[in-house]
Amino acid sequence: MIDKIKQHLNEVELFTTQSLKELEEFKNKFLSKKKGILTEFFAEFKNIPKEEKKEYGQVLNQLKNKVEEKIKTLKEEIENKSFSDTKLDLTLPGPYLTLGSKHPVNVVIEEITQIFEKMGYIAIHTNEIEDDWHNFSALNFPPEHPARDMQDTFFIEKNPDVVLRTHTSNGQIRYMENHKPPIKIVIPGRTFRNEDISARSHFMFHQIEGLYVDENVSFVDLKQTLMHFAKEFYGEHTKVRFRPSYFPFTEPSAEMDVTCSLCGGEGCKVCKYTGWLEVLGCGMVDPNVLTNVGIDPNKYSGFAFGMGIERTAMLRYGIKDIRYFFENDLRFLSQFNNI
Ligand code: PHE
Repeated sequence: MIDKIKQHLNEVELFTTQSLKELEEFKNKFLSKKKGILTEFFAEFKNIPKEEKKEYGQVLNQLKNKVEEKIKTLKEEIENKSFSDTKLDLTLPGPYLTLGSKHPVNVVIEEITQIFEKMGYIAIHTNEIEDDWHNFSALNFPPEHPARDMQDTFFIEKNPDVVLRTHTSNGQIRYMENHKPPIKIVIPGRTFRNEDISARSHFMFHQIEGLYVDENVSFVDLKQTLMHFAKEFYGEHTKVRFRPSYFPFTEPSAEMDVTCSLCGGEGCKVCKYTGWLEVLGCGMVDPNVLTNVGIDPNKYSGFAFGMGIERTAMLRYGIKDIRYFFENDLRFLSQFNNI
């Protein structure tokens, strides 16, 4: 018996492992309450002849201590080892997380919206899929009006009454149908025209529309508002000029130019050496439009304006090709992450 215990002493002495699982097995082998080696030896104690009991007890306790000590040291060793083995260097900086950036179209929309919000305008969003009434008829485009040809429209095939809006002016009608003056809104959003894709044009682009309707709104208000906008957006020294133009839903109508923000009006490639950039269409809301939405044109008047976002962003950031906006190329988009 005692010899057997001594053999185990030797075995324990030599035992080594690097796995917690094996160590657990080792522990069970000796200490398991049911059939652990030590448990069995202790149970044997009562059958040992008296004169051997002392030695038996000593050797057995020796084995028990050795087993416990072994388990303790091996456990510590394994735990420390597995930590250093992963080559974990806690002093290293964490992985670099790239932050997304705002799309330049949204940057421009937000900036323009904020300028008008400071003047008391609120931003609203309206339908991209529109009916003829809101996109054309209510805006004073009669069925055979030549201005309809100006808009190369996407019609929904089986229903000529459903179109993808060709401008954000549909939002003027949608809002005025449900709200009474005073009305002060900007309408940013996506617009669609059936155009070939090139560096300068796309079948999808964005506009921002503005509308102010109240008593006694005059062309002076229009000029003053848009002049303020131009200085805020294009810079304090920007000058503006208005050229007569035509839109079915405004009368009189105008187009606004600003002094070229790149050359300061000296003349450069971007402004085609004129010193001016054409930036928006505008005018006094046509009385017919007010009548169409149930607002009395004898009591109220208003002005409206609309501008293309991609064009504005191209001028501001010197982007040469409109297609960059819609290709989701990170090399392009990540350039805007400081804005
Ligand atoms: N809707 C016009 C366009 O798409 C722009 C515009 C808006 C002009 C409002 C006048 C008033 O070109």
